Amino acid sequence: MSLRLGDTAPNFQIDTTKGKIDFHEWIGDSWAFFFSHPADFTPVCTTEMGRTAQLHDEFAKRNVKSLGLSTDTVEEHDKWILDVNDTQNTDLQFPIVADADHKVAQLYDMIHPGESETAAVRTVFIIDPNKKIRLTMTYPMSTGRNFDEILRVIDALQLNDKSKVATPADWRPGDDVIIPPSISNEAAKDIFPQGWNELRPYLRMVKL
Ligand code: BEZ
Repeated sequence: MSLRLGDTAPNFQIDTTKGKIDFHEWIGDSWAFFFSHPADFTPVCTTEMGRTAQLHDEFAKRNVKSLGLSTDTVEEHDKWILDVNDTQNTDLQFPIVADADHKVAQLYDMIHPGESETAAVRTVFIIDPNKKIRLTMTYPMSTGRNFDEILRVIDALQLNDKSKVATPADWRPGDDVIIPPSISNEAAKDIFPQGWNELRPYLRMVKL
């Protein structure tokens, strides 16, 4: 059965380019951006690994650790990282899981036989410090991910947790947010003393 939002992310122990890890221990008190890609030494993947490395400070600011995965070995990953650094002008420091026997790819349902019997598609799992899966996305092999969206959704999830608000379509940090229907107007008066814009009784926009 596939993994669902709110599930505990399955734990595993595996070799990576930074040594053996226990996934849950490695996450610790951070959030995790765990993502698979089809193969080393392929063009789209090279740009995605480079982009993840370039965004190191943006992920760190949000207390997020990145973990890549493909069904290749540590030796292959290590050689490929030299190319990633060279072509994408970066210094890749996050670990990449070596999943040559597909152990983790199967656990996380990353192999979609309609795309490939052996290589992982481009999945994303955003996992919170309680090890709960908070977001999943799956992209086909031919399409590189939008990293602005990955950062945006992490911002939205962290704001949802902190302020108990929801975020509208295309929300960006600083935009108005939504008072969820689970908060009554009575309760909202205490939480949002600045007031809100009631477009409909179920659609209440507020500035934070
Ligand atoms: C790529 O990363 O460019 C790629 C990998 C597998 C299939 C298609 C594209």
